[in-house]
Amino acid sequence: MKAAKILTAQAVPGMIVAEDVYTKDHHLVIAKDTTLSDKIITRLEFYSITDLSVLTDTNIIEKENTIIETTFYEEIKKSEAFRRFHKAYISTVNDFQNTLNNIVTNDKEIDTDHLLTDLSKILYQCNTNIELFNMLHCMREFDDTTYVHSLNVSLICNIIGKWLHFSPEDLEVITLCGLLHDLGKLLIPSDIITKPAKLTQEEYTTIKTHALRGYNLLKDKNIDSRIKNAALMHHERCDGSGYPYGLTNEHIEPFAKLVSIADVYDAMTCARVYRGPLCPFEVVSIFETEGYTKYDPKYIMTFLEGIVQTYIHNNVRLNDKKEGEIVLINRFELSRPVVKVNDQFIDLSKHRNLYIESLI
Ligand SMILES: [Fe+2]
Repeated sequence: MKAAKILTAQAVPGMIVAEDVYTKDHHLVIAKDTTLSDKIITRLEFYSITDLSVLTDTNIIEKENTIIETTFYEEIKKSEAFRRFHKAYISTVNDFQNTLNNIVTNDKEIDTDHLLTDLSKILYQCNTNIELFNMLHCMREFDDTTYVHSLNVSLICNIIGKWLHFSPEDLEVITLCGLLHDLGKLLIPSDIITKPAKLTQEEYTTIKTHALRGYNLLKDKNIDSRIKNAALMHHERCDGSGYPYGLTNEHIEPFAKLVSIADVYDAMTCARVYRGPLCPFEVVSIFETEGYTKYDPKYIMTFLEGIVQTYIHNNVRLNDKKEGEIVLINRFELSRPVVKVNDQFIDLSKHRNLYIESLI
């Protein structure tokens, strides 16, 4: 069978991996001959793997629960609240696109108040973090542009900041950190960013320059220095495996650590051609199995706990197709809460063969 290089974004469950996949620091992520699943594809995002080699004449297995998976969100999409959210989101993203382009092309000061006012129009549409999370999931059919990604990351940063009980002033800075973190990407040729083939080493090196380029765009502006540092350091990882400098935990700007979590979460949950957004419990499970060493322990635990708490009393479908309600969070294994199915309480931390397949 022939092999072909594809982008991770083009990977579909059922494809067979033709070559071992390694991280930049030579850690084996997926072995050759592995059949891709949703979870494995998401793991590739977790490790920032941009492309892989697959066998070309494999029959792709249709994901049987594609329709089921989207039901929960389809209901939200029909609501009046979502219609209002959608409108505010679109107008903000358009406005935001102009603002970002202006920062890149002329030397004016950044009107952070204006940016925050625009964002508050979106936040105003949601009474709770739960609503905001669910609404964001419903927006995933949008193009994965730098503008949309940055807006999502800033909203997720705002949620995490609230969960961490930051002051209103810090919360504003955190939100702006998310909004401006990828500014440097606008200076990278778009044919590299959207290239539908394997990136050359040189192109990958170019993409990595966006952190420093973003910092350079912001460094002389009259804005909080933490926003500048978040642009520079959001790809640094606590274990030293990140870029541009390979900084370790205590040397990384705290708000950059927060942005890095929102950034990875947004990449992992974005919709793919064959399905809607990934079930949040799958994402939590990936963080649990792959380890937390790349992220600030307090931030990552608060974030994952926050996500899981969001869905308490939500109905879910397990992989054995039984449906039930999440009734108790297991703090030691967040992706495996207790689910009440009919009158039976199933502790997923004890039933290792079962897991939450989708929200319903
Ligand atoms: Fe980035």
